[in-house]
This record gives sequence, structure tokens and C-alpha cells, in this order.
Amino acid sequence: MAVWDILLHTAESYSLARRTGYTTIYQKVLAITPGDFIQFAVAMGFSNCPGAPQLQFMLGRPMPVAASLDGLIPEPFDAVDSSIERFADAGNFTPSHIIWLLNAHSVVAADEVDSTIPGTPFDSTPFILTVSSSLRLSSAAHCSQGENQGEVESPIMGELHLQSDSELPRDNRTACEWQSFVNNLERMQTLFPAAMATMAVIGQDTSQMVDCSDVVHILLLRALGFEPNVICPQIPITPPPQGTAHFPAGLGIADVEQACSTAMFPTLPTDPGPATYVAPVPPA
Ligand code: HEM
Repeated sequence: MAVWDILLHTAESYSLARRTGYTTIYQKVLAITPGDFIQFAVAMGFSNCPGAPQLQFMLGRPMPVAASLDGLIPEPFDAVDSSIERFADAGNFTPSHIIWLLNAHSVVAADEVDSTIPGTPFDSTPFILTVSSSLRLSSAAHCSQGENQGEVESPIMGELHLQSDSELPRDNRTACEWQSFVNNLERMQTLFPAAMATMAVIGQDTSQMVDCSDVVHILLLRALGFEPNVICPQIPITPPPQGTAHFPAGLGIADVEQACSTAMFPTLPTDPGPATYVAPVPPA
């Protein structure tokens, strides 16, 4: 499809377009538009992660008419001001909404920031949607990475730390919101899907769309071997992680740079054992 060809040559869209290109066959089988397919894949992907809330999936986006202009997606090396302005312009999002959405970075990995180490996670537990491991510590002594554009040194070996994920938790407009998610899984499970539901229908006429969120549950449960007649949206598909948030082994409160001026960073235990190393995620 011509739109994907264009996006494949658009720096900040490359990762998304490439993954979507891989999955064109599924899109054809499902007979839905590319926009619907992307949102369907997002809802399915996140729902597979333990700790993740169920995301809404609205069906009914029209076929694309043109690729988006270059430069519309925030880059990790953009100034915080610029990212905040872009989110406000695109979806009327506040700085707090950006932080709600960025919970997504708990379960993602980068292929293109440093193409020599594809699959490098942003988080010490890249398969679990938690805020406990997204502490965004300030210590920078442990990792040799950090030399690529948009990347800063990570406190955890094997983890890739984006400049934007380092600066947003330190900015006075977003620091307290970021800190508010630490050790508060319920807050993430409420606010992340709310912001995602808003973002997923930007520019769409929702009166022409159908809420197909149940399909996400049905397909997932079928994949897990359950029969459709036991399906209920309230079924906890993947149990959330138990216990309180914790520092990865080798790190602690001394490594935290206190950025929120109205509340102290919570007291958390540190995992025992040698300093944490995060393995790359397998290719998609
Ligand atoms: C300031 C805003 C943001 C910046 C600068 C940013 C930047 C990035 C970068 C550089 C990557 C790595 C791409 C690669 O190397 O493969 C990435 C991956 C990713 N981000 Fe963000 N991001 C932002 C906000 C978001 C939001 C709001 C979401 C979702 C709600 C999100 C979801 C993802 C996902 C799912 C991936 C993995 C993509 C893949 O596997 O191909 N990001 N982000």
C-alpha cells in the first residue's frame, strides 16, 4: 500500500509502519481498514501483558487517503515544551495526559534508536505492564549506552533510556504526575486506558463507529483455549503482578533524583541479588 511505502521512509513512523507491513496479511483476513487494524493490534497487544487493563477498541475508521506529514510524531530528542505542545495540538492532551499515556513505555522495546541492539527494552520488566519498574532512576553509571540521538544513559544494564522518558519525569509540569504512578497500579489501570480511548479516536466521527471491545476479549480467550460461552469482559485475563513496587536489584532511593516538589518519592524495597540486567526482547 502506498501509504505504508511513504511511512517506511518517514523516520519517526518507521517502526510502526514496518510492524504494520508485517501484519498486512492479518488485516486482509480480518477485512478491516489499516487504522482499525492498528488500534485492534494495540488493544490486543496491551491486553496480553500481565497487569494491563483492557483497552477499548472502536471499529469504523475509514481507509487512509494520504500519509501524515513528516515531523508530527514527537521525537525522543525533542524539548519537553515541544512534546507538550504537540500532544495539546493533536488531541487537546494536557501534560498529565502525556504521562498517563507514557505508561505504555513499560512494555515496549526499541529497534531503531540503536539499530545495533534491536529489541532493547525501556523497562526492567518489559513483559509486565507495571509502574513499579518504570521508576526512571537518575543514576547513570551502570550502562554504556546513551550515545545515540534521543537516548540517555540508563541506570539499568540492558535497558534503553529515552531522553524524553528522562526529561518528562523531571519537568515541573509532569514530575508529580509521573511520581504518582509509582506503586499505584490501580491508578495506571484507570488512567492509562482512559487516555488511550481518547487517543484512539482522534479525528474520528465516533457516532459512525462501533464499540467492539468484546472482540478483543473473545479472540484472546480463544487463543488461550477458552470457549466463547465463558467469555465475560470482567474475567481477569492476565493476573496483575502481586506485592508492592520495588527497586531493581542494585538500585535504591539514593539513586532517585527527587523532582516532584510537593510529595516525596515513596519508600520501596530493593530486589535482592546482583545488579539487574535486562535481556533484549525477541523480534516480533
Ligand atoms: C513524548 C512522547 C513519545 C516519544 C518521544 C516516544 C518515543 C519512542 C521511541 C523513540 C520508540 C522506539 C522506536 C524504535 O526504536 O523502534 C518508541 C517505541 C514505542 N512507543 Fe513511544 N514515544 C512517545 C509516546 C508514546 C505513547 C503516548 C505511546 C502509546 C500510548 C507510545 C507507545 C510506544 C510503543 C508501543 C513503542 C514500541 C514500538 C515498536 O515496538 O515498534 N509511545 N517510542
